[in-house]
Amino acid sequence: MNKILVTGGCGYIGAHTIVDLIENGFDVISADNNSRSNESVLDAVEKITGKAVKNYKVDLCIYDDTVAIFQENPDINGIIHFAAYKAVGESVEKPLLYFENNLNSLINILKCAHEFSVPNFVFSSSCTVYGNPDKIPVTEETPMKPAESAYGATKQMGEKIVGDAVNANTNNAILLRYFNPVGAHPSNQMGEIPLGKPQNLVPAITQTAIGKLPGMKVWGNDYDTRDGSCVRDYIHVCDIAHAHTLALNYLLEGRNQSNCDVFNLGTGDGLTVLEIINAFEKISGVKLNYEIGPRRSGDVVAIYANNDKAKNLLGWNPKYKLQDMMETAWKWEMKLKEDEKLFNSTNAELN
Ligand code: WQD
Repeated sequence: MNKILVTGGCGYIGAHTIVDLIENGFDVISADNNSRSNESVLDAVEKITGKAVKNYKVDLCIYDDTVAIFQENPDINGIIHFAAYKAVGESVEKPLLYFENNLNSLINILKCAHEFSVPNFVFSSSCTVYGNPDKIPVTEETPMKPAESAYGATKQMGEKIVGDAVNANTNNAILLRYFNPVGAHPSNQMGEIPLGKPQNLVPAITQTAIGKLPGMKVWGNDYDTRDGSCVRDYIHVCDIAHAHTLALNYLLEGRNQSNCDVFNLGTGDGLTVLEIINAFEKISGVKLNYEIGPRRSGDVVAIYANNDKAKNLLGWNPKYKLQDMMETAWKWEMKLKEDEKLFNSTNAELN
């Protein structure tokens, strides 16, 4: 069986990807220091797949701890590297924290990939690398604009580091540029668990709808778009997850066109913030408490993907529709509340 190391395996996209890899016959181990995730998500992975996944609770910025994973698993023949901080706003306030964490961990993993001759490497990138594109939809050839945040800069630099590393060595890489991952696993066993107040749109919507947040803001409705709010390409997390499995098979079967192919992972549909809110209200039956606020600095006005390359070369066909994205996100938020009640009631019994 192909053994794959998933770094950041306890994270939102990481855990969903582990499920898809196992369901497609891969043997998986995780490396995640749980600084911004919880190892308990691997219990959900086991519930869904029947497979227990070992997590190495390691800070990948520490080389000796990182190399120990490879010494214990010399049969790793693929790496999917998710581990990174990803809060855009925080990265503007603490750029050095982002450069140190996101780049040092990447460099250590790439060093090990070379030293242990791991042939295949998949890098978690983001549509953020495009900045504010002049023309949409964006293709993989759309030139990058200056990053709007340190987070975006670490993704642009990360792509360059991966490309140069595989050029110098013998392994192959794929860069996957996610658009806006949303939703939860259809089993409702796992989903997004934002740390603190959610910055991203869909968790802000579901937390407002369930009453965890008193209300939310739409950051600007005076943009040059069809209803004045920003346009994004929202893509279900399970479609993103499956693209990683297809990317690994693409490399394992030697179908790659270069030693560092890049793919957009979006649905190809651009939707505005207000359209997402309307879709959520229809699906949930909940009238959302929101008001129009000022524009958010760093926001891109409009971006969505041309996903032909991933469709044609990876055989990737996103199957989850907007309704599924809203339904699974809302069901997951209600599950979290149930668990909270259970958690609080258990605590009440204990006291
Ligand atoms: C989407 C739209 C907001 C919250 C970022 C990263 C990207 C990826 C996803 C990691 C914007 C508006 C949001 C709210 C709002 N990160 N919004 N009220 O900024 O497109 O992308 O997260 O993988 O790399 O750049 O996502 O969900 O934060 O915002 O009006 O309470 O929703 O202004 O127009 P974004 P987002």
